[in-house]
Amino acid sequence: MKELKSYLNANKERYLNELLELLRIPSVSADPRFAGDVRRMAEATAEHLKAAGADTVEIHDTPGHPIVYGEKMVDPKAPTVLVYGHYDVQPADPLELWDSPPFEPVVKKTKLHPDGAIFARGSCDDKGQFFMHVKAFEAMVKHKALTCNVKFMIEGEEEVGSKNLEKFCLANQKKLSCDVVLISDTSIIDNNTPSLTVGLRGLCYMEVEVQGPNKDLHSGVYGGAVANPINVLCSMIASLHDAKRRVTVAGFYDEVEKVSAKERKLMNAAPYDEKQYMKDLGVNDLMGEKGFTTVERTGIRPTLDVNGIWGGYIGEGAKTVLPAKAFAKISMRLVPGQDPKKIEKLFQKHFEALAPKSVKVKVNAHHGGYPVVVPTNSVEYKASEKAMEATFGKKALPQRGGGSIPIVAMFDQVLKAKSVLMGFGLDSDDIHSPNEHYGLFNYYKGIETIPYFYKYYAEMKKKK
Ligand code: BES
Ligand code: MN
Ligand code: MN
Repeated sequence: MKELKSYLNANKERYLNELLELLRIPSVSADPRFAGDVRRMAEATAEHLKAAGADTVEIHDTPGHPIVYGEKMVDPKAPTVLVYGHYDVQPADPLELWDSPPFEPVVKKTKLHPDGAIFARGSCDDKGQFFMHVKAFEAMVKHKALTCNVKFMIEGEEEVGSKNLEKFCLANQKKLSCDVVLISDTSIIDNNTPSLTVGLRGLCYMEVEVQGPNKDLHSGVYGGAVANPINVLCSMIASLHDAKRRVTVAGFYDEVEKVSAKERKLMNAAPYDEKQYMKDLGVNDLMGEKGFTTVERTGIRPTLDVNGIWGGYIGEGAKTVLPAKAFAKISMRLVPGQDPKKIEKLFQKHFEALAPKSVKVKVNAHHGGYPVVVPTNSVEYKASEKAMEATFGKKALPQRGGGSIPIVAMFDQVLKAKSVLMGFGLDSDDIHSPNEHYGLFNYYKGIETIPYFYKYYAEMKKKK
């Protein structure tokens, strides 16, 4: 382990430059104009896996973006770790809100990252994080310190719902067979407070259309007599929360699993400065479900948010129009117990029933995903705990993540393997936002920690 650490220290600059090179590739999966760059990113990922020491490296085409697979089998008796990550990124717009271009990475110091942070789209989510695994793998191979068989599966469609990954897993169950899935695509509490993610929220993403009259109308001639679909949509949306900020969709909370008082107490004991939290976000107050704290609201409670709303005239100046249609994208974060398929039906029924007779509504579903809970008494969790402790010098706190990684529940079902969510980002790293960044401390800490996971996992599996 000492040798690995000196190897890391001696190669820090190269490790950084290699990541910067990858961050220059705009692998935006949502926008077809970037399809060529997405492929280039898959090829670059494959090249890095080869160079790091993988024996087999393959690029698997899908109807969407390619999946990169690589493996190194060291010993049939050793446990097998499947590393999952994603090389695709979110769109970078609005570009004008970036302090430096999203695909021209720069390193700058920040308050939370006094050693510097890499500013670029995908730096934290997830290029910087999956690449830590490639670099840790390189170091272990070089030092013949690989205690587990390793398989890499790095996909290019996570940010658009992993549409083709399930099929790939179903068709390649044997190739992907493993003892554990290792993922770095989540956060720690802060750089002095290591944590491991023990839960992810699920997702149910809907799109609604409200149709009023059969054409746009003069708002003076018709306004007041004919339902304005934007006015109607706004009241429908407003009614989706009650005065306690609970979601009003009938049956929404029916299957929410109760979280024990003990777990709630533990999560509330983690460091959190509400004043600073508000200050960082530029808000004077917070808003959320009554009776729950901020960590609870983002970790263990289901929520509903409008992600976008449009319709009518949004051009220059004023146009007096009563529009024919209004639209919104509405997503719900789900917690253990809730089933996205059922919530989809509940939402549809509820939303349709909300509409007055003066309009017609259409409700459609986008991608969804099941919530995840990670047991903390498993060998893999204990190994990740030990690994974090080895490099941070502190015990990692179990923490529920507010975001979603829908394929984690699928790994459980299709590959019959549990996941370890050992991410190294910070919630304040602005993933999906302008000025996304990833701390150099976090990048190097990840590369240092990953080999400990392999070491402890192999040791603990042997004993079992
Ligand atoms: N890495 C994130 C998820 C995440 C971030 C989990 C921080 C926990 C903490 C992932 O890339 C992501 O953005 N997922 C999407 C869902 C997907 C279906 C688009 C999300 O959570 O919105
Ligand atoms: Mn991610
Ligand atoms: Mn993401």
